Amino acid sequence: MRTILMGPPGAGKGTQATVLVDRFHIPHISTGDMFRAAMKAGTLLGLKAKEYMDTGALVPDEVTIGIVEERLHEPDCANGFLLDGFPRTVAQADALGKILHKIGLKLDGVLNLRVDEEKLLARLTGRRVCRKCGATYHVLYNPPAQDSVCNECGGELYQRRDDTLETANNRLAVYNQQTEPLIAYYRNQGLLKEIEGDQEIDLVLQDILVALGQAV
Ligand code: AP5
Ligand code: MG
Ligand code: ZN
Repeated sequence: MRTILMGPPGAGKGTQATVLVDRFHIPHISTGDMFRAAMKAGTLLGLKAKEYMDTGALVPDEVTIGIVEERLHEPDCANGFLLDGFPRTVAQADALGKILHKIGLKLDGVLNLRVDEEKLLARLTGRRVCRKCGATYHVLYNPPAQDSVCNECGGELYQRRDDTLETANNRLAVYNQQTEPLIAYYRNQGLLKEIEGDQEIDLVLQDILVALGQAV
């Protein structure tokens, strides 16, 4: 399966991706996660990405396209992959098309998770993430069994630096301006599958599986 999971910040891309990649044994390629890992490791890429991520702006296309191209050439992508948070601009989508054409691969579909804007802000500002394993929670919608402790690994939960109200608002504005046009882009290519993202996490997953023609 070669799929893109699209949707505004907080739509549930990461939440759904975690389950899907486990089920289909394909790599989860999240540019946001890659940038955060680079920041944690203190690499040049991390330092560069931080400048943009902290304000909610997009990391420049040439940087982002480069790391995705490299990643797609790794052997574990041969049998499929799930892209999360890439592409995010028309230039990135054009570049992805060229990269896949060069490797001789085609996308199976593009899933677009739809959620209203006011709900997204509540999701973003209430999100907590495990420092150790990356599992995602929400203080109200998906709370851990024990406050600030990960159910999976016992790790400490933290709030992402870009999940403050101000930065989350900027991210939504950036999405509307630069990423939303990709919905029409992929619809025109006949690849778009609309998913209602404003329902229980398990129900969103079911709709995704149906859209992909997989057993629920
Ligand atoms: P990135 O990390 O990709 O962030 P994002 O797109 O803003 O998306 P999020 O990760 O915030 O949301 P999500 O859709 O994964 O939602 P989640 O499942 O966590 O990017 C961060 C930054 O990196 C960007 O701002 C940019 O600077 C840079 N960047 C990344 N990619 C780039 C690119 N291609 N080009 C340039 N720059 C790039 O869920 C959110 C919350 O909601 C959680 O608390 C969760 O528990 C809860 N939740 C999930 N599903 C449900 C549900 N169905 N009902 C109720 N609550 C739910
Ligand atoms: Mg995410
Ligand atoms: Zn954990």
